[in-house]
Amino acid sequence: MKFFIDTADVKEIRDLSTTGLLDGVTTNPSLIKKSGRKITELIEEICKIVSGPVSAEVAATTFDKMIKEAQVLKKIADNVTIKLPLTWDGLMACKALRDEGIMVNITLCFSASQALLAAKSGANFISPFVGRLDDIGADGMSLISEIKQIYSNYNNLTTEILVASVRHPRHVIEAAKLGADVVTLPPNVIKQLITHPLTDKGLDAFLKDWKETGQEIG
Ligand code: G3P
Repeated sequence: MKFFIDTADVKEIRDLSTTGLLDGVTTNPSLIKKSGRKITELIEEICKIVSGPVSAEVAATTFDKMIKEAQVLKKIADNVTIKLPLTWDGLMACKALRDEGIMVNITLCFSASQALLAAKSGANFISPFVGRLDDIGADGMSLISEIKQIYSNYNNLTTEILVASVRHPRHVIEAAKLGADVVTLPPNVIKQLITHPLTDKGLDAFLKDWKETGQEIG
């Protein structure tokens, strides 16, 4: 399972990249706004830190404009992945960009039928938003399960399931149990993954006992 980080905060990306656990980055217009940075400069900086796919989202809603924006974003670095919304224009742009060998992540997926269309359009990644489905009383993880089942039925559907809108470690574990290809994690969730009070308590006790032995290793 691949771990992407869902942020446009360069410091967070830099810090977490040192763990060696980071396989890619996803951004969106809201995260770019939060960063206060110009998208092209920011994506260029992120691509220098992370060699895996870095998703940069178009702001256009029509096919022609999406393609124009995608070309600007794609020029930034080889690992830029163009993020397109799940609309007819987005799917058509996906097909056109894939024909040129450009990586595409289809975003704002909330149904299995949408995920099927994205796969048929040749998307490299489909991004179902599990947290936002949970927020409205639906079950985000059921969608991951449905998409996984559908994609597994057809060898020619090679789109990777990129679980997005992740809110807590349970989402990560459930996604892994279902065999999702990628999770994109906000920095706070990545940090929560390692935290357990019994680990902290156990380590404190071991360190205390060790000190009392008076020994040193080496
Ligand atoms: O990047 C897309 C997605 O992960 C957004 O998550 O928390 O805004 O629903 P959220």
